[in-house]
Amino acid sequence: MQNGSERSDDELLAAARAAREHAYAPYSAVAVGAALLCEDGALVTACNVENASYGLSICAERAAVAAAVAAGKRRFVALAIAGPDHGATPPCGACRQFLYEFAPNVRVLYSDGDGYEVTALDELLPAAFELP
Ligand code: THU
Repeated sequence: MQNGSERSDDELLAAARAAREHAYAPYSAVAVGAALLCEDGALVTACNVENASYGLSICAERAAVAAAVAAGKRRFVALAIAGPDHGATPPCGACRQFLYEFAPNVRVLYSDGDGYEVTALDELLPAAFELP
């Protein structure tokens, strides 16, 4: 397996794409799904949920982290993100910081149109904020 677990990268990305089907994105029309692989093997999925008060919208990645934490899971192995079929969907800055709280060097996979990119959170967020 490509990510050191029982689940392949393809399986993680497929789960993110499946979660994307539930996206509520009537304002941006940008549907995003995320699949968070937990250390215990659980896969927690989520989608973006927008709001008429635009700033209240939540990204798929942060929704997945919140759902996992609410289920008692705080140790993560990988995060897969599926955005629109054209273009790349790396996690936004807010989601990087949010994820850093629990998994500073978690593996990150994101769709990029043709296929997917693999990186690590500490590459995407080299100077994360930590309380002084
Ligand atoms: N979005 C995500 O779900 N994840 C990201 O990392 C970037 C953006 C969502 C938020 C909003 O609903 C839509 O994509 C357009 O910004």
